Amino acid sequence: DAPPPFANEPPWDWTQSQVRRDFQQALTKVRTSFPVKVPLMVGGQKITGDREFASTNPNDMREVVGHVASAGRREVQEAIRAAKEAFAAWRDTAPRDRAAYLFKAAQIARSQRFELAALQVFEVGKSWKEADADVCEAIDFLEYYGREMIRLGTPQRMGHVPGEMSHLFYEPRGVAAVIAPWNFPLAISTGMTSAALVTGNTVVYKPSSLSPVIGWRMVRLFEEAGLPSGVLNFVPGPGSVVGDILVSHPDVAMIAFTGSKDVGLNILQRAHETAPSASMIKNVVLELGGKNAIIVDADADLDEAVVHVLQSAFGYQGQKCSACSRLIVLEENYDKFIARLKAAAESLELGPVEDPKNLMGAVIDASAKAKVLEYIQVGRSEGKVLVERSFGDPNGHYVPLVIFTDIQPHHRLAQEEIFGPVLSVLKVSSFDEALDVANGTPYALTGAVFSRSPENIDKAKRAFRVGNLYINRGCTGAIVGRHPFGGFKMSGIGSKAGGPDYLLQFMVPRNVVENT
Ligand code: NAD
Ligand code: ALA
Repeated sequence: DAPPPFANEPPWDWTQSQVRRDFQQALTKVRTSFPVKVPLMVGGQKITGDREFASTNPNDMREVVGHVASAGRREVQEAIRAAKEAFAAWRDTAPRDRAAYLFKAAQIARSQRFELAALQVFEVGKSWKEADADVCEAIDFLEYYGREMIRLGTPQRMGHVPGEMSHLFYEPRGVAAVIAPWNFPLAISTGMTSAALVTGNTVVYKPSSLSPVIGWRMVRLFEEAGLPSGVLNFVPGPGSVVGDILVSHPDVAMIAFTGSKDVGLNILQRAHETAPSASMIKNVVLELGGKNAIIVDADADLDEAVVHVLQSAFGYQGQKCSACSRLIVLEENYDKFIARLKAAAESLELGPVEDPKNLMGAVIDASAKAKVLEYIQVGRSEGKVLVERSFGDPNGHYVPLVIFTDIQPHHRLAQEEIFGPVLSVLKVSSFDEALDVANGTPYALTGAVFSRSPENIDKAKRAFRVGNLYINRGCTGAIVGRHPFGGFKMSGIGSKAGGPDYLLQFMVPRNVVENT
């Protein structure tokens, strides 16, 4: 039977007191499971060894969320071997049957929604709402890619020449390495993994070392859905060891990577150092960083713009590839808008995200904290501090929320991805200049424009060159199936996650012609 049409998983309505009570209970319940013991999974076997690392709560690092087995060279090689052995049978499983595993995993995730979100509050420091959105997005990927594979799984007749039957169809590539970031710890891992699986590839999945417990929960969703042994293998561990072997191994046919520009470019280079004995050229899908801008036009609805700018810049502490880190304001409105922005930013509740009133908590780890603090120092010399709000305590990785004005387009604060709660404001004198400034970085991921001018909106649609442009809304929060997501320039190569072309990257097209 055909599945019902795709529909996005609705987020919880947090205005309902019952929802808030249920979530509070989930937080308590999840916490009693800490520290979670996380094994490797290779060829269906759960392996715990002597090498382990800890995953801690960014808001209070004394809390250990999990003890995680760390894969070494041997385990990664075994995982690749297991994936290779499982490949032929999985490739030959009908697309519709592969999709059924995704639908089953979605159903299981739906039944665990509170728990999966509660874990994110502790392991990666997401607020309740952001954690719930991540779980919804993961479910959406499973449901969407399952349906996409059913669509793409039917061979297409090409041409209609009498006496000739020509069919185009798609096959998987082989063993796929999935290397994931921590900032959308369930959604992005699930998106890349489910795309690789449903297209018939077998997977060796490396979660970020900052979100391995959530990564393990994803693996368990597929395990509970009954995925055959060896089809999905799990190898947490340091990027420099695990990632390195995955990227250079001759039996890995493709790499799906989401993460930073520097690591992504390095992977691209190494993946294409093809050994003379290699039997395939690796396909590499890279989804990388951003330096996203919101333009506030001279006739924008300022009240609306303020709310969206703050959410885009400081939601999840600015730790989204889609986050707004540059605010470009037309001079007509500048003073009025900046005064409202300052007042609104000063009214935000900040603190540990276990408390739902707080919009923003700690950043992910000590090195993220050091990096953000360094950029704040750079900002002090490049611009002027409009807002600086310090909060938190020494047990968490807290950094201040900062807004700088008087930033110039060539400044480091206007060019480099910070990945933290730092917003740079740039003043411009015309809409054309705003577009030039917006486009003037190496990245092209997201952007937004607040304007009431049809002419400027049209201009932005043509000339604001980013992968995802939003008019009169913020620049974060793409929805699977509605807003296919991904950038170009230094923001990545490959087509958009949650869109109709995404699965094609995980397959090779074949054409068979039969003279009848
Ligand atoms: P990261 O590049 O540090 O790490 C990503 C993954 O790569 C992790 O699993 C890490 O262990 C692994 N890794 C590290 N070194 C490696 C190596 N030498 N070889 C192979 N793998 C290696 O990124 P992060 O800090 O996890 O995530 C934040 C970054 O991701 C930001 O730049 C953000 O913009 C980007 N991001 C992009 C998107 C998108 O869709 N474009 C989405 C989310 C995050
Ligand atoms: N898909 C995420 C967003 O749009 C990164 O915010």
